[in-house]
Amino acid sequence: MSKEIKKYSLEEIADHHDKKSTWILIHGNVYDVTNFLEEHPGGEEVLLDQGGKHATEAFEDIGHSTDARELMKQYKIGELCDEDKQKITDIEEKNHWPVNENEAGAWKSWVLPISAALLATLLYRIYFSYFV
Ligand code: HEM
Repeated sequence: MSKEIKKYSLEEIADHHDKKSTWILIHGNVYDVTNFLEEHPGGEEVLLDQGGKHATEAFEDIGHSTDARELMKQYKIGELCDEDKQKITDIEEKNHWPVNENEAGAWKSWVLPISAALLATLLYRIYFSYFV
C-alpha cells in the first residue's frame, strides 16, 4: 500500500508558527516539530523563530549532523505544493548545501595545508637567494 504524500502551501505552513503547532519547511519538505521543541538540542526558541517559515538556510547554516538529518525524517508530514515550489527554488538553487558534514569540511582539509606548504617554500627560496 503506497502512502500518499500530503502537499501544503506556504500559506498553510505559515499558520503553524507557535507552540501549539510548529511547522517548518526544509528543502521542500514540511516538518511538524511541535513535539520536538523541548527535545531539540539547539533549544526550542530557534525552532519557534523558524515556525511557519522556510527554514532551509537556517537549518544548513548550523551544519546539522547526519544524525539530525536522520532524526528529522520522523517529523515529516508532507511536502510543499508544486505551485509554491517555484517561489523557493531561487534560494534552494543559489546555495549548494552540503549533503553531509564530511563534504562541508573536505576542501578545508587540503586547501589550507597546501597553501601553507607553498608559502613556506616561497619564503625559503627568497631567504636563500637574497641572504645566503
Ligand atoms: C526537524 C528539524 C530539526 C532537527 C531534527 C534538528 C536536530 C538537531 C540536533 C540532533 C542537534 C544536535 C547537533 C547535531 O546533531 O547536529 C541540533 C542542534 C541545533 N539545531 Fe537543530 N534541528 C532541526 C531544525 C533546526 C532549525 C530549523 C534550526 C534553526 C536555526 C536549528 C538550530 C539548531 C542549533 C542552533 C543547534 C545547536 C548547535 C550547536 O550547539 O552547535 N535546528 N539540532
